[in-house]
Amino acid sequence: MKNLRKLNILGIETSCDDTSAAIVDSDFHIHSNIVSSQSIHVKFGGVVPELASREHIKGILPIVDLALKEAKLTLDDINAIAVSVNPGLIGSLLVGVSFAKGLAYSLGKPLMPVNHILGHIFANFLEHTGINYPFVALVVSGGHTELVKFLSFDDFKILGKTIDDAAGEAFDKIGKVLNITYPGGPEIDKLASKGNKNYISFPLPMIKRPNYDFSFSGLKTAAALYIKENNINLENDKINDFAASFQNAIVRTLFIKTVNAIQKYDIKNLLLAGGVAANSELRKVFHDYAKENNINVFYPSKELCTDNAAMIAAAGIFKYKKNQFADLNLNASSIKGLYHL
Ligand code: KG4
Ligand code: ZN
Repeated sequence: MKNLRKLNILGIETSCDDTSAAIVDSDFHIHSNIVSSQSIHVKFGGVVPELASREHIKGILPIVDLALKEAKLTLDDINAIAVSVNPGLIGSLLVGVSFAKGLAYSLGKPLMPVNHILGHIFANFLEHTGINYPFVALVVSGGHTELVKFLSFDDFKILGKTIDDAAGEAFDKIGKVLNITYPGGPEIDKLASKGNKNYISFPLPMIKRPNYDFSFSGLKTAAALYIKENNINLENDKINDFAASFQNAIVRTLFIKTVNAIQKYDIKNLLLAGGVAANSELRKVFHDYAKENNINVFYPSKELCTDNAAMIAAAGIFKYKKNQFADLNLNASSIKGLYHL
């Protein structure tokens, strides 16, 4: 890697329903990280892609402006631009990518394309020092559940992933059945904190299979049936126990598979990433395990677990140092999963 003076990276993230711009320097110091969550989707109980793109178009310029103001910087102080190009909603991604390309061209500054999942994982570098390779990353978001072994920034292997719903998707779909405002994950987490996680024994999907793949669709169906048969709702006094038990089934499944992987590959550093990494129970079980087993577990603060542009800038710093730039043919793509661009 080149030895560099301090750089300011402008990160841009528009992959789903958050319009975000951030300025992060090459020491991983966050100068600003503006996240504007689109409220327009709430009444639909999920993200409406076309509305999301239109909101990004309205929001992107003022949000980049705000990020510069909050950082007390101007465009002249920006050394490079990092933008998420996949996976995500194609129309939403296109807004960020087109904006970033236009800005990079007009400023004559380099452009780094960032895979959104990679951004989630490297968000950990914004708040933690001492993250060493090899590490395993458990990525749990609204659209992805992946277990990945990293030997270096560029060298990784996907050990397993969900074969159907993502962990966050299961939280959100059960949230919808319960009439909880989208996204359901954070609210189920809150309800669960007052409940008994052993109240209902939900099935732990695929834990006996000798691989690292996940499946949450059966658990989701079992939970939805339980809600119907037992009349669980926000007024029912069993809602907290239901939430705690459902959350526990998701967390145990993620935990068991992840621990199998780190034991098999003798990994001492584990990174949690993605929106579901904000979940209190998930953080607690991995924190306790790490303490008892003398391994290091890292997870971002809750604000940096969910979608934000600082994480895109963080991954962009690594790309900059390795001269991994894009030209103006760069395009967004909706291909799922983690891969290098
Ligand atoms: O990473 P993210 O912001 O967006 C995607 O890339 O998908 O993740 C959003 C997901 C949603 O499914 C949301 O319900 C979930 O993260 N989430 C949580 C919590 N906070 C956010 N799930 C469980 N517990 C939480 N505290
Ligand atoms: Zn995300």
